Amino acid sequence: MKILIVGSGGREHAIAWKLAQSPKVEKLYCAPGNAGISEYAECVNIGAMEFDRLAEFAKDHEIDLTVIGMDDPLVGGVVDVFEANGLRVFGPRKNAAILEGSKAFSKDLMKKYGIPTAAYENFDDAQAALAYLETAKFPIVLKADGLALGKGVLICQTLEEAKAGVAEIMLDKKFGDSGNRMVIEEFMTGREVSVLSFVDGKTIKTMTSAQDHKRAGDGDTGLNTGGMGTFSPSPFYTEEVDAFCKEHIFQATVDAMAKEGREFKGIIFFGLMLTADGPKVLEYNARFGDPETQVVLPRMKTDLAEVFDACVDGTLDQIDLEFEDNAAVCVVLASDGYPVKYEKGFEIRGLENFKEKEGYYVFHAGTKNQDGKIVTNGGRVLGVTATGADLKLARKNAYDAVQWIDFDNKYYRNDIGKAIDEA
Ligand code: AMP
Ligand code: GLY
Repeated sequence: MKILIVGSGGREHAIAWKLAQSPKVEKLYCAPGNAGISEYAECVNIGAMEFDRLAEFAKDHEIDLTVIGMDDPLVGGVVDVFEANGLRVFGPRKNAAILEGSKAFSKDLMKKYGIPTAAYENFDDAQAALAYLETAKFPIVLKADGLALGKGVLICQTLEEAKAGVAEIMLDKKFGDSGNRMVIEEFMTGREVSVLSFVDGKTIKTMTSAQDHKRAGDGDTGLNTGGMGTFSPSPFYTEEVDAFCKEHIFQATVDAMAKEGREFKGIIFFGLMLTADGPKVLEYNARFGDPETQVVLPRMKTDLAEVFDACVDGTLDQIDLEFEDNAAVCVVLASDGYPVKYEKGFEIRGLENFKEKEGYYVFHAGTKNQDGKIVTNGGRVLGVTATGADLKLARKNAYDAVQWIDFDNKYYRNDIGKAIDEA
């Protein structure tokens, strides 16, 4: 089959790499792609939000399946445009992608169906939100309703901070229209775990667990980023936790969406917090995580093209989803200064060191080809993943491989996977 992938980050590189191994796949395209993806897929210069052009390309090139990697096009309704054109596509329709696109929607859904999550209130008026804060307990969490590049969540320690936060979100519109509504919720503590899953509308199959490191600096200091590194599996995601989530969260979410007339097909990414009162949902995403995908897919044994097909066809119950009994760690190599201000255009050296080294991968995020060289082209530049028999070995291997790559202003966290020492 011919597959078109929509996206341009490390996540899409990992998806392309995995699909390229499938005997079912004869040709891969990626729009718009990046320098690393071009090794597996023909990159096409169409933006992820150009729905009509994407659909036209899929028709012209007789694409059998389009896989949407990113949140913006999903929330914007790209799947509906493809379906209206009679094209097969992997991902939720707009009315289901709202699970990620509106935090107020997802909180109301969880409340209605008894899915464990933090206590909350929704607001579409700044005055009401400010009044509510007067009697609230601190710290408290403010969330812009819509997509905000993972930056729309503010944890406020005091009433003054929270008031300023409401003004930023709802009055100054720091996150644009995403701040027309907001959620104010209870602050929770515990370990965070990411569980990604395949969903075909009725059946859900979860992938192996992972944990992200969102802050820019060692010791979880500094600003929130798109993710500085991941490990998989999470040693804190025990069989007992899994059993609880299976009973109260995973299938319950899929069934709730179906009951609401919003059948969900695609990926549901459960952002969980393991609190003293049991696992609770922090957030839902309607797509693979980045950089979770870079540790989960290298451990997956099952043919990804077969799983995508099964989700689209509603036959996921017939798939036996299998993962290696090993571990993986991904360290993101960023440009110094990310996520605030950084320079681009530096040559990347050492990529060839990963060729034919089993268990070592370099996934491109912000790179491009320039005059025959590969240069840095973003804040997050590369994700270096290594597998190992266990988490400690995987971590050692990943940090060894980090040294194989060199570029000016290379920056990375030194403590990805440190939490495993506490397990
Ligand atoms: P979200 O985009 O909802 O996952 O939020 C981003 C990050 O904010 C999460 O990964 C958590 O670290 C933190 N966070 C979100 N909601 C809460 C909460 N209710 N209590 C504590 N931390 C939270
Ligand atoms: N790694 C978090 C995310 O993809 O949203």
